[in-house]
Formats: sequence, structure tokens, C-alpha cells
Amino acid sequence: MKALILSGGKGTRLRPITHTGAKQLVPVANKPILFYGVEAIRDAGITDVGIIVGDTEHEIRAALGDGSAFGVKTTYIRQEAPLGLAHAVKIARDFMRDDSFVMYLGDNLILDGITPLVREFERDRPNSQILLAHVPNPQEFGVAELDGTKVKRLTEKPKEPRSDLALVGVYMFDSSIFDAVNAIQPSFRNELEITDAIQRLIDTGKVVHCHVISGWWKDTGKLEDMLEANRMVLSRAKRRLSGKMDGASRTEGEVIVGAGTVVEHSILRGPLIIGENCVIKNSYIGPFTSIYDGVTIRNSEIEHSIVLERCTIEDIPVRIEASLIGKEVRIQRSQAKPTAYRFMVGDSSLVDVL
Ligand code: G1P
Repeated sequence: MKALILSGGKGTRLRPITHTGAKQLVPVANKPILFYGVEAIRDAGITDVGIIVGDTEHEIRAALGDGSAFGVKTTYIRQEAPLGLAHAVKIARDFMRDDSFVMYLGDNLILDGITPLVREFERDRPNSQILLAHVPNPQEFGVAELDGTKVKRLTEKPKEPRSDLALVGVYMFDSSIFDAVNAIQPSFRNELEITDAIQRLIDTGKVVHCHVISGWWKDTGKLEDMLEANRMVLSRAKRRLSGKMDGASRTEGEVIVGAGTVVEHSILRGPLIIGENCVIKNSYIGPFTSIYDGVTIRNSEIEHSIVLERCTIEDIPVRIEASLIGKEVRIQRSQAKPTAYRFMVGDSSLVDVL
């Protein structure tokens, strides 16, 4: 079997972070989301991995390289425009030849991996196996209607969903999917939908199995989802302290601190992760917080947040929470006159002041 990871897309729901970076590379618990997918594929024993890339090709290539660091072999396939998931399958035809494959959306995170699901597909040999999960907001996904255990109908982003079963962004196909993607027309959002291609498999009498997953799964397209993914991954963190911590500091619960980080007069209440070469002084870092490398936090409190590399947060009198802070951002207090808020924020940013 091969794998196809989709790593294009514009990440519009995560702007402004995605103005300057691929959404699949935003870290969850200090590891790019995309890496969790690559590792899940590798753990399932698949090593031949096609990566669909778009405008952020350069960055994705820089992060994954030839795949050897992950124990896989990567082949990059350029999608010139985001024309849909089924279009991505179309352009992967030469890479796949006649092999079966797992298609994995690079912004999806399945906490327990995909190994048993891949084994099930290999054992039962349907033409396709899809994964479903109960969600509170099915209108934001592809939605499945079942007839007993059989898939009856799949609808992309239905206004009036007929069930709460969303299509998870991990699909398994044999080569019959290529006829299906060639037979469908673009959808209301002008994309070739994989949902429609799977419906086409059903309509032409192919065997489509479904598996309702019970473990934790997230499509990390939005801020709340990123924070929740961060919370889930950190809830499995195990204490590991490197760096230097003074006697006036205290850690509680599962706290990970990276090499070269200095912690003084601070409280670290896990689960949390702080990367390498950070400076944390006179501060409180609360649960479910991921601080990436090279960050400085002084005289401030933060929890339930993701802070990217080389940020500085200083002298903030109110606790920061539920925030995603991009690379090299400075959040500081000013003594300058006139007394006023001063911003220099990127397009599509969000600033909530008290
Ligand atoms: C895509 C699929 C949708 C699926 C979702 C899972 O949605 O089109 O059917 O439920 O991924 O993450 P998109 O992220 O393109 O809105």
C-alpha cells in the first residue's frame, strides 16, 4: 500500500498565521500537525508516501525532506490550484499506479493512529473504506447517511445534515477511485469533492465500508480546533525536565521543558511543553500551553495557548488564554506617552483587549 498526504490548501480559517506559513506545519504540543500524520502512516507500515503540495510547497519540502527522518520515502506532487480533494487524487494517478492507498488530510489529527484501520482495509479488501465520527456540527463536514452498517449517501457540507456522522479526513481506496474522480463534476464550492467520488463508487456498485471511530479526532482548520488538539496531545504528555530551573520556581503535573531553557521565579502547571532556549521569568505558565523554541516570557501569565518560536511576552497584567500567537510576535506593555494601545498586527489578525 501507498499513502497520499494532502498538504496544499490556503488555511483561510487560520489567518493570519497561514499568511506566512502552511497550516499543516502549525505545531501542536511543539510538533507540526503534519508530522503526526506521517508518523501514523509509517506506524501502519506504509513507507511510499506521496505529498500533494500547493503554494507552500517550499516549506513542506523543507520540513519533510526525503522522508528519511521519519522512516518513509516522500514524493512531492504539485497541485497548481486548490481544485479539491478528488482533484488531488487525479494528479496522483502516476504515483499510485495500481496500488491501494491511504489518503490522509494533512491538517487532521487522529490521536490513536490508523494502524488497525489499515489492517482492516487490507483484510476485507473493499474498494474503499471511510472513517466516520459523531460531531456536533456536521454541516461543516462531509456527512454520511447509513442504512444499518451500509453507507447510503454522502453529502458535502449539507445545510440540513441527515446525520451527525462526519467523514474523517482519512480514506482508503483501491484503484477504482480513479474512474470515480474522472466521472464527477465540480461542487458548489467549485472543487472536485472526494465525497462525491465516493458516492460515485456507491452508485456504480463498488464496495464502500465504513468504520465509526470512537477515539479522538480533529480537523484542525480553526483556532478552537487547534487549541483542542493541543489540549488532547498534551493530556498524554509525560514529565521531562531539561534546561535550568531556579529554587524559587515550581512545577506541578506533567511538565516538559527543553534544553537550554531558563526558568526563574515561575510556576509551571502542566500539562504543558516549553521548547528549547526559552526564558521564563517571574511568570505563570498554565495547563495546556505549548511554548515553542526561543520564546521569552517575563512578568506575565499564560495558559491554554500555543506560542510559536521566538515570541516575547512581557509585563502583561492580565492572564493570556485561548490564544495562538505567531512567530516572533512581541506582546509588551508600554510606558510611552500618550497612554494608548499601539498595534502593528498583520492582516486578518484578532486582538481582544480589556
Ligand atoms: C474535507 C472534506 C470533508 C471532510 C473534512 C474532514 O473538508 O471535504 O468531507 O469531512 O475534510 O476534515 P474541508 O477541510 O475541505 O472543508
